[in-house]
Amino acid sequence: MTVPALRLGGLRISPPIGLAPMAGFTTLPMRLMARRAGAGFVYTEMVPAEALVRGCPIVRRRLAISPREHPVIVQLYGADPSVLADAAAIAEDAGADVVDLNLGCVAPEALRCGAGAALAAQPVAAAACVAAIASATRRPVTAKLRAGTSPANRSYLDLAKRLVNAGASAVALHARTVAQGFRGRADWRLIADLVEAVQVPVLGNGDVRSADDALAMLATTGCAGVLVGRAAIGNPWLFGGITARLQGCSMPAAPSPGERLAAALWLIGMLSSGPLAYDLPALQRQVLPLLREMPGIKKLREAVAAARCVEEMRQAVMTYWASVRQEAGA
Ligand SMILES: Cc1cc2nc3c(=O)[nH]c(=O)nc-3n(C[C@H](O)[C@H](O)[C@H](O)COP(=O)(O)O)c2cc1C
Repeated sequence: MTVPALRLGGLRISPPIGLAPMAGFTTLPMRLMARRAGAGFVYTEMVPAEALVRGCPIVRRRLAISPREHPVIVQLYGADPSVLADAAAIAEDAGADVVDLNLGCVAPEALRCGAGAALAAQPVAAAACVAAIASATRRPVTAKLRAGTSPANRSYLDLAKRLVNAGASAVALHARTVAQGFRGRADWRLIADLVEAVQVPVLGNGDVRSADDALAMLATTGCAGVLVGRAAIGNPWLFGGITARLQGCSMPAAPSPGERLAAALWLIGMLSSGPLAYDLPALQRQVLPLLREMPGIKKLREAVAAARCVEEMRQAVMTYWASVRQEAGA
């Protein structure tokens, strides 16, 4: 079966299934795991344009891009066109294949500076931001938005048309309104309506939890690509299942305890050393979701959550792994 491809500017991406941007989660290691498992492309965490341009070291870290993760979409947030333009140039230099503007974030850090969902509520200003980014980078520019502020105010079709006119090569839609937050169901009919309304590829997003969901979203909405968010946290292998289904192959086996534990140890190593070096709570937040679907896993989860340093965390995983191997008679 031919796997469909997504075209973003001059890029051809296959499979058209991507890891959605998630602050605190889509760090470099998670992106690498997603790509290795079969994701066609990945987004960074959202990067504050103003702090990036100012040279803030923690923010620069979000732009650490590995040669093994391309194609990677760097997502910026901000509301000042000239700052966003400077940030886009920095993102391109750092290795971004695509520069994306966040127009859906409802976190206070974004709303406070008039960015994310606040900027989406100002369609003329949002289009000016996309135009400024497009003029500052040779990379394709995209935007990720929600359906509007509330069910009574679904402004996304008008907004998306303006963004495309301003230079967006694709638009991603999280098919919920701002008022919904993450509650209720994503309304995939809104994605289908957007596909009809714009001439550029649409990336559908919201509530894809399985390979069946991904194929259903592609088939029922006509979208050119699918973004997977929460379901990929602790389960990068989901991308392998989606790719297999797109290829018409049988589903790969679920990861074994050994694969999960090896992934957890690799993640601990990546997140605790070198320029990435995250603090302990950030490490625990990213590692814990991998520790599931194994016998007696509750105890390991508790030990990892209670660890006072990286070494204690690593030791807890190794001890548990030794017990799993012993029980399996290895
Ligand atoms: C923890 C978390 C962090 C997120 N951070 C971002 C972000 O930085 N930028 C963004 O555009 N969306 C962000 N999102 C929204 C997701 O990209 C996605 O639109 C949403 O989770 C719906 O997709 P899903 O049902 O597959 O999770 C975040 C979501 C979660 C759960």
